[in-house]
Amino acid sequence: MKICYTVDEVRTAVKEWKRQGLSVGFVPTMGYLHEGHRSLMEAARKDNDKVVVSIFVNPMQFGPGEDLETYPRDLEKDSKLCEEVGVDIIFHPEPEEMYKAGFCTYVDMNGLTTELCGKTRPVHFRGVQTVVLKLFNIVTPDRAYFGQKDAQQLAVIKRMVTDLNVGTEIIGCPIIREADGLAKSSRNTYLSDEERRAALILSKSLKLGREAIEAGERDSKKVIDIISQNIATEPLAKIDYVDVVDFATITPVDKITGETLVAIAVYIGKTRLIDNFIVEV
Ligand code: PAJ
Repeated sequence: MKICYTVDEVRTAVKEWKRQGLSVGFVPTMGYLHEGHRSLMEAARKDNDKVVVSIFVNPMQFGPGEDLETYPRDLEKDSKLCEEVGVDIIFHPEPEEMYKAGFCTYVDMNGLTTELCGKTRPVHFRGVQTVVLKLFNIVTPDRAYFGQKDAQQLAVIKRMVTDLNVGTEIIGCPIIREADGLAKSSRNTYLSDEERRAALILSKSLKLGREAIEAGERDSKKVIDIISQNIATEPLAKIDYVDVVDFATITPVDKITGETLVAIAVYIGKTRLIDNFIVEV
């Protein structure tokens, strides 16, 4: 396994693989890798001849006052995990390598990014779209793997790839959870013991919502109420949003039909956690 710090190093390696007719799978990450990332890397390993993982805490997708500076980093541990899974290249650029002086080109989207996380994180998706397209242009992968943990991000990337004719297949992978149900996240490390216990309210509340839908509930508002009321029973939790949207377009729906995303963002203390489930009705 090689760690590349520059765009040129990655391009040279991928060019040689392509010359040999090898397929390339790609997993973009911000590092501090856990079992969720590992599941994407394993899927990439299974489907492709070569696997590239990027580890880049992308400044552009963090808003003012967000956790860019404190975002956890551990390249040594990340490298071990990548090595274990059989990753061929880690791409680990400095921000200056990705954003050269004078940088002023962005990928923007009119739909999909206004709801859910787009409401509280207005610059977030522009930063995600821009960096992911840049990474796709550098790695030129046949397939790229994204977690359903960030369901809106997955929908946005699928839309971008369709709209801009990017020749990469986007593969969505299921949410990996702790044994007690908490969705794995690099940000879970911010939680104190008491907050870690309180954070279970996310998956527990979503479970109630899912059970209601499985029992026949189709009214989005009722499902939102069931979830919100349960979250409100946890004193350390503060709701950012509880929403029911069409998964492909990320627009709110009154009636649950088709592929529907039920998504929540909740502050546990100062830490903002997200979780969701997708139902096909
Ligand atoms: P990051 O938060 O590091 O996540 C990288 C990938 O891992 C994303 O596709 C995310 O959905 C997936 N992932 C995270 N937790 C997961 C879990 N519990 N189960 C399954 N998959 C999980 O998402 C980003 O980085 C960035 O926005 C990025 C796409 C790299 C652009 O900077």
